Amino acid sequence: MSEALAITQTDKASRYRELLPQLASLVDGEPDLIANLANIVAALRECLPIASWIGFYIRRGDELVLGPFQGKVACVRIAFGRGVCGTAAAEQRMVIVADVEQFPGHIACDAGSRSEIVVPIVVAGRVVAVLDLDSYELAAFDDVDAQGLAPIAELASKLAW
Ligand code: SME
Repeated sequence: MSEALAITQTDKASRYRELLPQLASLVDGEPDLIANLANIVAALRECLPIASWIGFYIRRGDELVLGPFQGKVACVRIAFGRGVCGTAAAEQRMVIVADVEQFPGHIACDAGSRSEIVVPIVVAGRVVAVLDLDSYELAAFDDVDAQGLAPIAELASKLAW
């Protein structure tokens, strides 16, 4: 496909709907995991301007290690069970944090971050990575993001982990 994304709608749900098939064709036929994760992150960044940081943390043993991302430099290693990312990984569930100051153990890579959503990528019942989105706005992420990101996590789970 051409490199340009076509995200034309203004409401978030429609933007996720527009994005999904474009992501699918972006990764279609490309076997390289890192290239595909990098493009997913870049496409999400275009789709979701409210996000200040978007990236993958990839599982290495019982740690999550920084993968392809867009945004400011970030913490490299996060233990399972630690922070929002480690919680989502350990509990294998999506975690939405409206106010990071209210989340015990939140890891502040960027002091400006106010809210966050983390989506686990699960392959055959095992977490292989998490997709993390941060925002400088409080309560930037909600059920629309949960519903929009779930099929993207599903798509990511089909990559060559
Ligand atoms: N806030 C995350 C750490 C990763 S950064 O946001 C990029 C956490 O609490 O797990």
